[in-house]
Amino acid sequence: MRNFVLAITVIFSLLFVSNCVQKGGNGGNDSGDTVKVGVYLDLSGATSSYGKSTKNGIELAVDEINKNGGVNGKQIKLIVEDDQGRPEQAKTVISKLINQDKVHVVLGEVASTNSLAAAPVAQEAKIPMITPSSTNPKVTEIGDHIFRVCFIDPFQGGVMAKFAANELKAKTAAIFGDVQADYSKGLEKFFTEEFTKLGGKVVSTQAYTQNDTDFKSQLTSIRQANPDVIYVPGYYGEVGIIVKQARELGMKQPILGGDGWDAPELWNLAGNALENTYISNHYSIENPTPEIKKFVDAYKAKYNEDPDALAALAYDAANIMADSLKRAGTTESQKLRDAIASTKDFKGVTGSITINDKRNAVKPAVILSLDPESKSFKFKTTIAPEGSESSEEKPKDEKADAKAANANSSESADEKKDEDK
Ligand code: PHE
Repeated sequence: MRNFVLAITVIFSLLFVSNCVQKGGNGGNDSGDTVKVGVYLDLSGATSSYGKSTKNGIELAVDEINKNGGVNGKQIKLIVEDDQGRPEQAKTVISKLINQDKVHVVLGEVASTNSLAAAPVAQEAKIPMITPSSTNPKVTEIGDHIFRVCFIDPFQGGVMAKFAANELKAKTAAIFGDVQADYSKGLEKFFTEEFTKLGGKVVSTQAYTQNDTDFKSQLTSIRQANPDVIYVPGYYGEVGIIVKQARELGMKQPILGGDGWDAPELWNLAGNALENTYISNHYSIENPTPEIKKFVDAYKAKYNEDPDALAALAYDAANIMADSLKRAGTTESQKLRDAIASTKDFKGVTGSITINDKRNAVKPAVILSLDPESKSFKFKTTIAPEGSESSEEKPKDEKADAKAANANSSESADEKKDEDK
């Protein structure tokens, strides 16, 4: 009997010890029974709409993945941190996720300035980071562990410049941007380059900073310059007020923006002033493919609202992460990094995603017009990156069909609507 008790004690102690060994020191190793994924987002600051949608998109994807057995026999565990939309805080929370929680991979941020502040921490620790939606080119230049599943701003800024020059026939433009946001500064530059190339002229450039509420003096300068269009490459919180105040000052021009406008709050902030405004964005909920429809239905069932572009990109980022984990067969960071880097033709809801050698996704953008009455974005056109791979791969007739059926997928990547103008 005594031997039996001893044996049982030994077995239990061994089990206990091995369990402790497994739980400790997970970082980059393949031990442990979960894959730990760090998520850092603005859940309470000036861009919290982005954070909330992104969190929803990630959680929907991870729920589905876990229900289907997880990855490599393990469940995915999300550890979510709020960075309040502040770059210093983004750096602090990503350090906590990596050094304390020992996550295997990180998803975040949305606003480029926050991703730029946090990415060096991931790069230094060699933990792969995927931003769903930061579009400033500098983000992935931080290093070989930093990825994104969205297009970049030289493309996005060019897309809107082309739309302004070719579709709206604008000859002159004013730009009103956020001087502290890398996103805004980048778009200002890339829009100007393309618009000038197309023969247009930027007649006034004005600046604001986040949390400003009175934009009337800059807008008055813009009004004096009387441009054909006004480009406002900012985030929804300020943009909503800018558009409203511009209309109050009697400015009737088309006002143009980028993905940063995409938030439900925009409709409340600007209301009818959003008449005659257009943005570039990552996806359109209108004319959906079967994949988009499936995603939209699942999202609506879970959250009782339509998914915006942030949610769609986040869903794609989480699924690409899971797909890469499966292909790597491990959470070991170098192998996981290599698997993410070799993502090819992944069928996401925001289009077909191939990670290029700069760790960016090359995919089409959509132009949407804003309809204040229905509080919804109306699909106008798709603009593909020049020489995009998918445009070369598809046979001719298939391309035409896909184009008619779907505005988002890379199958429509051969469209260069503007070039005949
Ligand atoms: N692209 C923006 C940035 O880099 C973030 C964003 C993406 C906002 C998509 C809204 C929708 O800062």
